[in-house]
Amino acid sequence: MTAKPNVMIFGGLALMAPILTLQLIPPLPAEPLISHIRIVDKYLVDPPTTRIPKAFLKALQDRKDLIEYRQVNLTTPSAVSKCFMDLAPNGLPYTHIIDATGEFHPTRPVEVYIQNTLCAALHIARASASQMERIPGSIKAHVRLAIPWYKHPGIEKRYKETDPEGWKPKNMPGVWWHESLRAIGSIKGLPLVVVRCGFPYGEGYFPFEVTTITLLALVYKHIGREMRLLWSPNLPKSCINTYDLAGAVWKAAEWISTLSREEADAIAGAPIPPSYDDSVTSENCPDAILASAGSVTIPTFNAVDESDATQGSVTAVVSRVFGIEIGFLESSTGIFEGKVLGQVIQEATEVHMMAWNEIITNANPPVPDTPLLPYISPSLLAHDGCGMDGERMRKILKYEFRYPRFDERAIRDYINWCRSEGIWPETDLYTSS
Ligand SMILES: *[C@@H]1O[C@H](CO)[C@@H](O)[C@H](O)[C@H]1NC(C)=O
Repeated sequence: MTAKPNVMIFGGLALMAPILTLQLIPPLPAEPLISHIRIVDKYLVDPPTTRIPKAFLKALQDRKDLIEYRQVNLTTPSAVSKCFMDLAPNGLPYTHIIDATGEFHPTRPVEVYIQNTLCAALHIARASASQMERIPGSIKAHVRLAIPWYKHPGIEKRYKETDPEGWKPKNMPGVWWHESLRAIGSIKGLPLVVVRCGFPYGEGYFPFEVTTITLLALVYKHIGREMRLLWSPNLPKSCINTYDLAGAVWKAAEWISTLSREEADAIAGAPIPPSYDDSVTSENCPDAILASAGSVTIPTFNAVDESDATQGSVTAVVSRVFGIEIGFLESSTGIFEGKVLGQVIQEATEVHMMAWNEIITNANPPVPDTPLLPYISPSLLAHDGCGMDGERMRKILKYEFRYPRFDERAIRDYINWCRSEGIWPETDLYTSS
């Protein structure tokens, strides 16, 4: 019998690492699916320096034989490589590597994205490839997460992995997440697979589209006004529940674990085009794959649910659950009485925050420290959309969703998760259990 996988997850402590860990190590008496998990990130866990789900902190305490957390500076190659050199408790190397590292913050200087996103991913992939050279066959899977920071404005279009038009980054963090794929994709022999997710929502701290719309609904119910969103109800908002994102990442890892990179490329390779961003130069980043080198082919899966979500489909669910009206401002011209969009947003944000503050301080019990905020991120306002086709994931990975669509059950489960974390404001605005 072969040993169960030794899994190493880099980054994602504030994203999907806790959820994936809890899936791979289900509560007793269920057998763990893995032999050991080492999670490596820049944060401290004791005391936590980022929001970490309680169930995960408990598992770290209770299942020390199975889970290890290491705080490591991911921009230091020797520190990353030591994580590979230190064997798992069963005396074997780590076999399944999951890389969810990268910078999300929207307004950092370009060097920060180069170091924290491209270079970190490259240090991890090089260390992984070097273990593969030292111990042939020892890396079964190396999964890199890609985030939905691409321009998908067309209301009809759903981009497949192989469509170069779907790979145009929409901002500077997105450029370097994108270029990180190309850089690590160029390393020979690594059993790499890219999972490109839609907007994640659900269990965990994901302040993205669907979550924000849900919280805004509570705000509008509180102030008793119609909620209105920008652009068309048809704007695509492909999304995925975080439980399924973790599941899809693991499924992709299992899929490539029996294939060589060449075989995986033949089945699911996608040519990842250059970002063509001006900041991608050999002066800025000697390790970047320049546009002149063309595309880099990598096995890639879009991870989006089966619902083909749009602003309209998401708001219809939220509107039903909270019993409020949600409309659309079809165009940003002529309806703001001469105000510029930025000013309108600022005014709206002030109203939202004041109402939110009332909700969380008058809740029973009050939850003034909740990390939940109905903050309108630029991505919620942008006309970019996120239109991804998930057929390949369904056909090749045959992943079965727990949440095939964002629906009332998905909202209820999310709110109940927030309740279990003690961060949900209990009010008479939403009383279901
Ligand atoms: C991480 O390492 C890099 C390079 O070795 C260094 O420049 C940076 O200051 C370190 N960061 C922290 C938080 O220690």
